[in-house]
Amino acid sequence: MANMEKPLTSVIIPAAGMGRRMNAPINKQYLTIHGKPILAHTLEVFEKCPLINEIVLVINQEEFSICKLQVLKPYCFTKIKLVRGGDTRQESVFRGLKAINPKTDIVMVHDGARPVIQESVIVRSIYETVEHRATTVGVAAKNTIKVIGEDGFVEHTPNRDYLVEIQTPQTFEYGLLKEAHEQAVLQGIEGTDDAFLVERQNVPVKIVIGHYTNIKITTPEDLIIAESIIKRLIKND
Ligand code: CTP
Ligand code: MG
Repeated sequence: MANMEKPLTSVIIPAAGMGRRMNAPINKQYLTIHGKPILAHTLEVFEKCPLINEIVLVINQEEFSICKLQVLKPYCFTKIKLVRGGDTRQESVFRGLKAINPKTDIVMVHDGARPVIQESVIVRSIYETVEHRATTVGVAAKNTIKVIGEDGFVEHTPNRDYLVEIQTPQTFEYGLLKEAHEQAVLQGIEGTDDAFLVERQNVPVKIVIGHYTNIKITTPEDLIIAESIIKRLIKND
């Protein structure tokens, strides 16, 4: 029986991508920001958070040694279990799901490439998930978004009051996310996030409003933005 007053919580960190849009000679997660690898920044927040019991880190097999050398050894993590990644983000998360403690109540998924995640958002996500079963962090869309056709012309303009840009962490009851992934495999469905798979199970997903600073490091200019945000956060600590 799940103990929802103090739920056992695992986080899966997919970090097994190729970082193609970064165009760097190494996987973007091993690039440094403020002297520390991006992945180390991300992992440290979860390592320090007392509500997180286990971190399942999903990485490429060929990067096990660089990860150990540059991230795991210098920064002294105690909660991490390493798992080999898959060809897509969804497959990497699914591999992580199969490796987590089976007694887990709540599972959170957070991109390795989002190093500016704040502990308060993790804590709020867990509490909201205990109440609502499925949550995702997001921020109100700042730009107008248009839906276009294949011909490149605008089809319609959704009301921005109801548009949210989705980030991670995304957090779920463990059984719910596992079932959603298993069904996706059976039905050959590939989604760009985990919430989409849960939505397909007809389970409502609650939005947890996060921070605009929680960017995903994707292209080279994101490194400059993240460096300045991290320096500011460290100064204000
Ligand atoms: N990811 C993963 N396994 C994959 C693909 C992506 O674990 N097969 C991870 C990435 O390492 C990243 C997160 O999912 O932390 C979000 O993906 P994205 O930002 O798209 O990273 P990449 O796929 O590495 O970058 P790109 O799409 O530019 O190649
Ligand atoms: Mg990708």
